Amino acid sequence: MVSYKDIQASNSLINDATAPRVAVFVGGTSGIGKLTIQALVATGASTRIYLVGRKGSEERTRTFIQELHTISAKAEVIWIEGEIALLAETKRICDVIKKTESRIDLLFLTAGYAPFGARKETVEGVEIAQSLEYYSRVLFILHLLPLLREAEAPRVVSVLGGGLEWASINVDDPGLKKPGSFNGMRAQVQYIAMNTVTLEQLANDNPDVTFIHSWPGWVNTGNVRRGSDPNSIMSWVVWLVLDPLIRLFSLSDDESAQRHLFQSTSAAFGGRGVSWNGKPGINSLEKQANGLFLVNYKCDCTPNAKTLSSLRKGAQEKIWNHTQEVLQQYL
Ligand SMILES: NC(=O)c1ccc[n+]([C@@H]2O[C@H](COP(=O)([O-])OP(=O)(O)OC[C@H]3O[C@@H](n4cnc5c(N)ncnc54)[C@H](OP(=O)(O)O)[C@@H]3O)[C@@H](O)[C@H]2O)c1
Repeated sequence: MVSYKDIQASNSLINDATAPRVAVFVGGTSGIGKLTIQALVATGASTRIYLVGRKGSEERTRTFIQELHTISAKAEVIWIEGEIALLAETKRICDVIKKTESRIDLLFLTAGYAPFGARKETVEGVEIAQSLEYYSRVLFILHLLPLLREAEAPRVVSVLGGGLEWASINVDDPGLKKPGSFNGMRAQVQYIAMNTVTLEQLANDNPDVTFIHSWPGWVNTGNVRRGSDPNSIMSWVVWLVLDPLIRLFSLSDDESAQRHLFQSTSAAFGGRGVSWNGKPGINSLEKQANGLFLVNYKCDCTPNAKTLSSLRKGAQEKIWNHTQEVLQQYL
């Protein structure tokens, strides 16, 4: 475990030279993304943040942005409205960013929820949580990679379940569309593994970019309540069991924010960023080198070697081909 004291010490070194000059947060309207934006702005470093979110969150997010300006005048925060569950919208949002920026230092992806209820699709025909937690995230990365490659220490952080992969995922029906394929548990397992195998593929193809798949542990953001249908058995289980457990055992908001800021900036992961004298992180290939890092809520790297070896053999190529098929019309 990287101690909280060490995390805070590392984050105290964030300054104009080491902070991401340009950062894009997708999912920063609530929860871990929002907390991490707050922590980044509170460093007082110069940074320009693109905060992407849906129309329904615009009003409260504009208030949040005003609050951020009172914390530090050196942070510029730009609101971009878009329906991020839609891939056509994701493309449009990326086009807006590409028009004004030539480099991006940090892409921080947190949109999503555990889909405990019935399968619900977007008008584009993909399950909503899968779009938020996987397809749209990958599409953001693919569109913004040319800008990330222009940065000195570019980084992509996807917050979901790094290190929690299972080998048994559905490679014949990656979108879990066939009757009987979808349920809340299978969806979680599927989306976590799809994130990891695709991020590893992207890391292999882009050796200068650092990729992190973070498992945040429990953070009391209300995320667990988002995905169940009202008055369903699952909504009662969430209300009576999961929610109280999360409230009791979750990391504090501040610690989660600082740990994600550390993951976004520290040289512990891949060697570039805020200098780090502690144990260097190992990537998903179990090497002390740049690549994909599966990082848990203690900021330990958890390569999950046996499962990943099996996913590499049986799933990585199939998932990558499927993803390209789904995304090609939005590239
Ligand atoms: N919190 C935890 O304990 C925990 C544990 C393990 C994994 N995770 C995963 O980690 C990620 C980040 O978690 P979090 O707690 O920060 O999540 P969160 O606060 O519940 O939400 C994150 C973002 O997702 C957006 N979102 C949710 N549903 C949406 C929809 N239908 N369309 C568009 N945007 C939508 C939210 O937008 P609005 O603000 O507009 O609602 C928000 O910006 C999520 O994928 C979550 O499932 C969380």
